[in-house]
Amino acid sequence: MAFNMEYPPGATPLDADELASLIPGHITTQGELNEWEQLNIVQGEAWARKQRKEILNEAFVRQLHRQMFGETWQWAGNFRKSDKNIGVDWLKVGVELKKLLDDVSYQVAHATYSPDEIAVRFHHRLVAIHPFPNGNGRHARMMADLLVVRLGQPGFTWGSRNLIDATDTRQGYIAALQAADARDYAPLLAFARS
Ligand SMILES: Nc1ncnc2c1ncn2[C@@H]1O[C@H](COP(=O)(O)OP(=O)(O)OP(=O)(O)O)[C@@H](O)[C@H]1O
Ligand SMILES: [Mg+2]
Repeated sequence: MAFNMEYPPGATPLDADELASLIPGHITTQGELNEWEQLNIVQGEAWARKQRKEILNEAFVRQLHRQMFGETWQWAGNFRKSDKNIGVDWLKVGVELKKLLDDVSYQVAHATYSPDEIAVRFHHRLVAIHPFPNGNGRHARMMADLLVVRLGQPGFTWGSRNLIDATDTRQGYIAALQAADARDYAPLLAFARS
């Protein structure tokens, strides 16, 4: 591919095969790609907000990813087929996702935690599984938003800033995810409403 991708800390590098599966032919810079992706995501979000079906199942998780990235990447909505620096063994994505969705359904049914905590824990585990080749952060934030709204709360604000660039906001977000890795969810709970 002709252009050089630059990655903020914590973003997943794309391999050559993934870059070859970019759908729009006219994109030559990272800036153009970001803009195109953002338009696609806005469409995906509009689609998602209209849905009334259950969201805590694999079909919806994949469908949302396809709606957010389907005009951009040929593999949108499909699980990854290689290992990344983040995420479970790619062969275990399906089974780990199933476990997560079952756990979250149980937490919702039994009100195990507050709505915010259920959704924030869900976000953290979903992004840790890292089901897709790219777009996991944005997809998992939207999944958590959809869930928390269904649980009767306002959508999350996630730092109220662009998380894609390498900003302090993004660093705060990654630090909060790392605290959650160590089972301290307070920073991610605060960040989601900041
Ligand atoms: N060190 C880390 N520990 C835990 N999670 C991380 C870490 N670094 C990144 N992540 C998560 O992985 C995501 C990046 O994965 P990916 O590139 O697939 O998603 P993305 O939507 O393209 O990313 P983003 O929009 O955040 O740039 C981050 O948004 C974050 O949720
Ligand atoms: Mg990325």
